[in-house]
Formats: sequence, C-alpha cells, structure tokens
Amino acid sequence: MLQKIAALRAEIDALTAASAEDVEALRIKYLSKKGLIPSLMNDFRSVPAEEKRTVGQAINDLKTAATDRINALRDALAATDDPTDGLDLTRTATPLRVGTRHPLSLVREEIIAIFRRLGFTIAEGPEIEDDWHVFSSLNFADDHPARDMQDTFFIGRTPDVLLRTHTSSVQSRVMETTQPPIRIICPGRVYRNEAISARAHCFFHQVEALYVDKNVTFADLLQTLRYFAREMFGPETGIRLRPSYFPFTEPSAEMDISCDLCGGKGCAFCKGTGWVEILGCGMVDPNVLEACGIDSKVYSGFALGMGIERITNLKYRVNDLRLFSENDRRFLDEFAGTH
Ligand code: DAH
Repeated sequence: MLQKIAALRAEIDALTAASAEDVEALRIKYLSKKGLIPSLMNDFRSVPAEEKRTVGQAINDLKTAATDRINALRDALAATDDPTDGLDLTRTATPLRVGTRHPLSLVREEIIAIFRRLGFTIAEGPEIEDDWHVFSSLNFADDHPARDMQDTFFIGRTPDVLLRTHTSSVQSRVMETTQPPIRIICPGRVYRNEAISARAHCFFHQVEALYVDKNVTFADLLQTLRYFAREMFGPETGIRLRPSYFPFTEPSAEMDISCDLCGGKGCAFCKGTGWVEILGCGMVDPNVLEACGIDSKVYSGFALGMGIERITNLKYRVNDLRLFSENDRRFLDEFAGTH
C-alpha cells in the first residue's frame, strides 16, 4: 500500500499541464470522487489496524501534495496567460484628438499680445448695452443713422436696451470709472442687423484700443499703428492713413496696410490699389472725454478699432465670413497646430 502511495506521489510531483483543460483532466484523474486518490480509501479498509495510522497519514499527505501540485499548475498557467498577447506595448499611444484653436481666437490673442507689449491691459464690457454707452456718450447725434433699426438690434420694446454694435462702448464705460492714464484694449463680440452673406454677418468681433493721458498726440497714435502693423503683418508692411469721420474721434482716419499679396503693386485682392483697409482710428473727441467725466483741457487721447474677422481674412485669406461660425471641421482643422 505504501509503495503504491509512493509511486503515485512520484507521478504527482512530475505532473505537467499545457492548458487549463489539462489541469482539469488531472484534477479529475487524481482528486475527483472516483479519482485515484479517493479510491485508495477502498484499499485502506483492508490495511491491518497497526498500519492504519501510517498509511492514513501517507494518504492525507498524498492528497495535499496532489491538491497543491494541481493548484500550482493552474496558477502557473494563469500567470503566463498574457493579456497583452499580440499587443506591442512599446508603440507610441494613438494621440487623442483634441480640438484646434479657432482662427478668430488665434488672431485676437495675437492682437492682444502686441498691444500688451505697449503697456495696454484688457478691459471688457457687456454685450447687452444701453444707448448711452454705445451711442450718446460717444457723441453720436440723435439722428445718427447707426441708431437706426437697420443697424442695431434692440431688445424688447425700449430703444434703450440693445446689443452693442461696436466695442467702443467699453471706452466710455472705462473712462466713466477710471481717471487717466488709461491704456486699454477691449476685445469682444458685436452685433449688427445685417443679412448674413460671405461679406457681412449679424455678429462679428472687434478689438478697440484707447489711450488717454496728458499730452497724447497724433504722433503717438501713428507710432502705435505702425508698430501694430509691422508686428501683425511683418516688418516690410507699409501703412497709410486716409482722413475719415467717426463721431467719437476728431480728427479721424482709416488705416490701410500695403497689400502683401502683390507687394503694393496692385492686384485683384487690393482692387489694384496696392492697399487694404484694416482699421478706424483718431484722437478722442473732447466731447467724449467730457461726457465720461474726464477733463478735456488736461487730457487727450487716441482710440482705434478693428474687426478681428477682417484681420483674420488678411492674415489667413479666409474669404467667407460664414466659415467662422459654421464649425466645419474641414475649415477648423486647417488651423491645427497654429498657436
Ligand atoms: N467703432 C468703430 C466701428 O465699429 C471702429 C472705430 C473707429 C473705433 C475709430 C475707434 C475709432 O476707436 O477711433 O466701426
């Protein structure tokens, strides 16, 4: 009997298995009810009484050894059951698709960065405005056409609640609450009652700049404009000012930059003139300073305002305004990786 046990023990110590099925077959062979080890109990009955102790102990040991061995085989197989089978863990991960920055945001940030280098800080104001800040404080006559229903979105029935038509409203808000020196840049969205087309939209974006201090002159404005144009469009960019009219500036001007498509020679883009218009500007009208509580005998200032879409069109040659608000991925993806 003991010999039989020893032989089984040797067999068990040498067991191997190549799969979970092999392990299960071994378990059935040795440990199941009718397996080899439980069957030893039949023989056990005929073992003489004085040997029962030793033989019983040997059977128990054999059973433990078999259970341990089979469990060990099962564990070893589970450990080699590699979950990364067929995967190359050294491969670079597939990059997550993150969004791209919107071209208008890119250009807005660039404009802000340029003015920040000149000491301007950002100021913001509400998009829902009142007549005073959008028009009256800025020296618009009562019958100025910009107040007309065709240009301005009024909210509700009162003509005093409206969507701002330009970011110049932030000028008067800041001047009302701050004494000079004031050096601010005001980016924001503006609204006009226009039919949507490639060249016009009912909302767009502007950046306004305002500098008010003692002895601010047109020369300061000119240098600021020149610096801005060169930083934005390159060091070769030329500028020219044409006299213009805005209610809130006197004198007023519009600034053109040399057309960088044709180098100023004249092409279809600049309509043969060699110049493209980019912004309006001027010296803050003393009436505006006074309306906002700033002494126009002590202080003077300049202001300028530009459309972000316009600058973006010039910089990236986007020729349809609608692209900016349609969220077409084919368009937006062109700006991937631009910072
Ligand atoms: N607010 C003007 C507009 O919406 C742009 C503008 C022109 C702003 C001249 C200015 C300025 O500050 O001086 O068309």
